[in-house]
Order: sequence, then structure tokens, then C-alpha cells
Amino acid sequence: MRLRVRLLGLSISTVAVIVTVLFILHIDSLGQNWLAQALERNNVAGKNIISEIAGHISDRTVDAPAMSPEETKKNWNRILAADTDLADLLVQQAAVRSGVIVEINILNEDGKVVVSSIPSRQGQNAPVRESLQALESSDFVNRVKAIGFSRTDYETRVPMGIPDQDKPVFEVQLLVSPILLRDKILPDLRSTAVASLFALLAAVVLAGVSANLALRPVKRIGKAIDTITTGRPLGLSYPARDRDDREIAAVEYKLGLLGQQMQGARRDADQMRSAIGTLARGVAHEIKNPLNAIALRLETLRMKIADEVPEAEGEIDMVSNEVHRLDKVVRTFLDLNRPLELDITTFDPAELAAGVIEIMRPAASQAKVELEITGPAKPFTVQGDRGLIEQGLLNIVNNAIQALGGSAAGLVRTVVSLVQNNCEIAVSDNGPGMSESVRDRIFEPYFTTKDSGSGIGLAVTKRAMDLHHGNIRVDSAPGTGTTMILSFPVRRA
Ligand SMILES: Nc1ncnc2c1ncn2[C@@H]1O[C@H](COP(=O)(O)OP(=O)(O)OP(=O)(O)O)[C@@H](O)[C@H]1O
Ligand SMILES: [Mg+2]
Repeated sequence: MRLRVRLLGLSISTVAVIVTVLFILHIDSLGQNWLAQALERNNVAGKNIISEIAGHISDRTVDAPAMSPEETKKNWNRILAADTDLADLLVQQAAVRSGVIVEINILNEDGKVVVSSIPSRQGQNAPVRESLQALESSDFVNRVKAIGFSRTDYETRVPMGIPDQDKPVFEVQLLVSPILLRDKILPDLRSTAVASLFALLAAVVLAGVSANLALRPVKRIGKAIDTITTGRPLGLSYPARDRDDREIAAVEYKLGLLGQQMQGARRDADQMRSAIGTLARGVAHEIKNPLNAIALRLETLRMKIADEVPEAEGEIDMVSNEVHRLDKVVRTFLDLNRPLELDITTFDPAELAAGVIEIMRPAASQAKVELEITGPAKPFTVQGDRGLIEQGLLNIVNNAIQALGGSAAGLVRTVVSLVQNNCEIAVSDNGPGMSESVRDRIFEPYFTTKDSGSGIGLAVTKRAMDLHHGNIRVDSAPGTGTTMILSFPVRRA
């Protein structure tokens, strides 16, 4: 993942976590607040109702001598059962507190509904609901769950009893709805959500800006490294004026030093290379001339002593062979290290390839190898050093024939084509192919697997392609044969 994306992700997710936690805490505090208020209101409403009931009872109780608790209870129950106004009162109370209370019931000792704001409840068992009080004192998760998602009502009970008696005679049951609660806190929640969203958006923007700021020095260092690798000088400026950038400036300064050292090293290496090249070419020339002389003298010697000392013939042959081998080594070395002076002309690559095939025909027929050539669909010309490319192609056709030497039905196929402004010359053989370890080394000068090879051929071909801004591709595996493709631009830049 890109550094920039990681930085952005990190800052945004941090803010998102904080915003979410604050949001949930806010919902809980809203809910808690509301629960406390609802409890308070229910208690007040319950007490009001109880005092109304007490009023009704005292209005309807005929003056009588003091009654026992049992008799009082019976009396109260009788009065409430006959009281038709009370139900209206409950309906009215529930209506007054609409939006909070959805139902009010008066329950007797057995938990049966004596009077209700909902007529159908009369005489039924009291509806079973969770206690609002319990919800208020339960834990955070429960509260958020109840306030956020619950659909069942919660109850509060307010008792009405006779002094000195443990059990209440009646209980007022008030039911509140969490759905109504949600409606109440929704607007508040909405504004909180909008604020959170803005916070998140601001975080995205700020994170983007700060990621850019944080990455700017890294980009600068990247540029400095680019400058160094392309060999251009890097301006040295240290210490930095800007205090915040001091660490980065120090790194840039050191990079600059490194760049200067590298440039120096590069210059040294170039000088050294050219010095070694000149020296080696000099030595090679010095060897080449005496070698030619030796070869000539050997032939003279051979003629002179042929009749007198016939047994010397074999010795002379051996020396002559060695001289020729040495001469070849020196010549290929000089070829490989020839100074880069290209002789650029415009020519037809198909014609060049056909010429190479003709040159190779005798060697091919000797090795019992068939040669085939296919030209391009439409003739085209290229600009380049004809001699170099010819030598390069000759080397790979020669390798292919050598690889096939001895095998039955050997075939070397050469195809010339134009592929997107590149001239491509592919040479395929159905020979033994190469193992990976061989394939990795074939362009190394002097690498060979042949007894009489010098390992120069492909190095020369590769150099020819390099000089033409082209390349050479190899497709080869043991048993599947080998294809070598020369590829270079048809026009020189
Ligand atoms: N068509 C091919 N099939 C199999 N192996 C090949 C093929 N072409 C090249 N090679 C391998 O690559 C090696 C290097 O090839 P290169 O032409 O550079 O040198 P060489 O042929 O050995 O010697 P010379 O200098 O005479 O050409 C070869 O020795 C051979 O192992
Ligand atoms: Mg070769």
C-alpha cells in the first residue's frame, strides 16, 4: 500500500473511532437524562392519581366507626369497582402526559387490573413489563440497547396502602414507551450526527493535507536520488534556513556528498576503462603483428624442410594450429573492443538475412542442417551499421547450426519482421536447448560450453544490439530447442 494511503487511513480511522465513541456516549447521556426525567414524571403522576383516588374514596365512604384494615381494604375495593369516573381520570392523565405515558392501570393485591386507561384491560392480569427504575440503574450496554432498539414498554409502580400495613392495597402502574423516547431524542441525535460527519470530513481534508506535508521531504529526497543516479550534480545547501526542515536538509546534504563521490568514482571508472581498453588494444596489436610474421615464417619453414625432415611436418602443424588459435583470440578481442564508430547506412534487413543464410549454407549442409528463411509481409528498411548487424546475425545462425550438428532432421528457421517500429530477426532451431544455468551466462564474453568455442559470438551480437539501442531475447529450455530474437529500432534517434 502506498505510504500516503496508509497515513490517510490511519488518521481517518483514528478520528472515526473517536467520533463514534463520543457519539455513543452522547446517546447514552441523552438516554440517561431522559430516563431520570421519565421516572420523576411517573412518580409525580402516580402520586397525583393516588391522591385523586383517596379523594374519591373519602367522598364515597359514609361516616362510620373506625374499620379494621381488612374492612378498609374491602371498602376501598368496593368503591373503586363502582367508580366510573376513575377510568376517565386515568385516560385524561395519560392524555396530559402523552408522549411519555402510554397506559395507566390501577392494580389490586392480586395483580389484577381494577381500573385502566384502556377499557379492555379491566379485570385482566396486569401486563408484565420491565421496570424503568431497573433500566436506569443497569449498565451502559443495556441502556444503549433499550433506548436504541427496544420496542416493549417499561413500567413504574407507585403503591397506595393503609398506614402500618406492609402490603399496599393498590398499585398505580404507569407504562412508558421507548419508541416515544427515541422520537424525543432523535432531533438532538441528528444534529450530533451532522456534527460528527463534519468532524469526519474535516479529518479527511486535514489528513490529506498533512500526509502531503509529511511526504514532501521524502519526495524531495527521491528527486535528489534521481539527480544523482542520472549523474547530474546536486546543489549542496546546508545548514537549512528553515528550522523544521533541518533533519531533511542534513539528509539531502549527505546525499549531495554521496552524489559527488559517485560522480568522481564514475569518472575514475570511465578513465580507467578507456585506459585499460587502449592498453589492451595496444598489446593485442603488438601480439598480432608478430603472430602474422610467425605464421608466414612457419609456412616458409615447412616448405624448406619438408623434403629433408618429413617427421617435422607434424610438429609444424601443431605450432601452426596454436598460432592460428592465438590469432583468432586476438582478432575477436580487437573486434569486441573496437572503438564505437558506427558506419550507419539504410538497408533492407530481409536482404541482409538472406545473405547471411547464403554464407552459412556450406557449413549447414556439412552438418546436415536445413536452413529456412521467411521475409516480412511488407518490405522495409532500417538504419544501422550493416556490418555489425550481419556479424551479430551470423553468430546466432552459426550457434544454431552448431547446436544441431549430428542430430537428425535439424532445422534452422530465420524470420524477419517489423514489430511496432522495431526490426525483429528471430532464429529458431530444434536443437537440444539450454539449461537455465547456461542460459544465464551466454552473453558473458569468453563463456562457452564447446571444446573449440571461444565464447565471443553472443557477446559480439549483444554489443551490436546495444549499439543499435536494441536487445536480444532468448527463449530456450532443454529439449525444446532455442529461439534467439534480435530486435532494434528501424530508425536511429
Ligand atoms: N542455439 C543454441 N542452442 C544451444 N546452446 C546455445 C545456442 N546458442 C548459444 N548456445 C550456448 O551459448 C554459449 C555461448 O555462445 P557463444 O556464441 O557466445 O560462444 P560459442 O558459440 O561457444 O563460441 P564462439 O565464440 O565460437 O561463438 C555456447 O557455448 C552454447 O552453450
Ligand atoms: Mg557461437
